[in-house]
Amino acid sequence: MSVIETSNLTKRFGKTLAVDDVSLKVERGHVYGILGPNGSGKTTTIGMIVGIIRPTSGTFRLFDGDTPQDLHEARRRIGGTLEQPNFYPFLTGRENLKIVAGIKGLGKREIETALAVVNMSDRAHKEFKTFSLGMKQRLALAAAMLGDPELLILDEPTNSLDPEGMVEIRELILKLAGLGKTIVLASHLLVEVERICSHVAIIKNGRLLKHGTVAEITRGDSSYSVHAGDLNSLQTAIENYPGTQHTHRHTDRIIVELKDNDPAALNRYLAQRGIYLSELSEQERSLEDAFMEVAFTGESNSRQGS
Ligand SMILES: Nc1ncnc2c1ncn2[C@@H]1O[C@H](COP(=O)(O)OP(=O)(O)OP(=O)(O)O)[C@@H](O)[C@H]1O
Ligand SMILES: [Mg+2]
Repeated sequence: MSVIETSNLTKRFGKTLAVDDVSLKVERGHVYGILGPNGSGKTTTIGMIVGIIRPTSGTFRLFDGDTPQDLHEARRRIGGTLEQPNFYPFLTGRENLKIVAGIKGLGKREIETALAVVNMSDRAHKEFKTFSLGMKQRLALAAAMLGDPELLILDEPTNSLDPEGMVEIRELILKLAGLGKTIVLASHLLVEVERICSHVAIIKNGRLLKHGTVAEITRGDSSYSVHAGDLNSLQTAIENYPGTQHTHRHTDRIIVELKDNDPAALNRYLAQRGIYLSELSEQERSLEDAFMEVAFTGESNSRQGS
């Protein structure tokens, strides 16, 4: 089942095209990272999905529902956190949750359940202003978890936390995913997305550059690292090979991107010319490499529907 499906979603603020024709699909159980630099349109995309920003054009569906009534119902199945959690400083954690719960029509039982999920039951009697940033984020997650929503939408959940706080929140997000929640997470932190997301959409200047599983995006499509005794003749042969898209010479090997992703054919071609490879391996990339590559080449979305 698709939990979120956007089609050509677009948002303009005056002259700024904040979100530009974004079509993406989040399925049940995904931990879906929206990854992009500052100002790339992550918060705006999320804002449209949770209903606080009206799209300029394009459409989206939540839980496969189409009608405005469906959308209204669907929003009850969503919990979210904003970039800056907004709580009353002089109220305790529990009192703050009571206010949020009141808006959602929920009571004490749901508050205690949510506090337990984020391991805050024994600290929620303290005033919000005494909380560390990590605890503030935890409380925000508890607020999002009120009423046990199926979909959690988190905007930069580890923003401004210290490394320890980040790890704590990431573990908590993984725990929620383990409980079967679908999670959408906006982040400008590559490591964060790489560590906790199953899927990622890379956006820049409002445009969706690429999306797919983290493994698909980091696998390196059709790039191979090759090595043979004589690198110069190897390079010449690879450059002459009709299936070569692109080559890059390193000091000790050559990286070749193939048009048809058929490394065996390259191997045969080289062997026929008396060049025997001592190494031919798929090129591993970190999400950072993948991000830099798509962000700088502006590769269009080639994984539509994956
Ligand atoms: N209410 C608004 N009015 C005018 N421009 C806006 C508004 N909200 C966002 N923008 C602009 O839209 C673009 C996308 O902003 P958005 O906040 O969605 O990016 P982001 O990816 O969440 O960035 P960050 O990583 O800084 O949170 C930016 O150029 C921003 O200045
Ligand atoms: Mg943002």
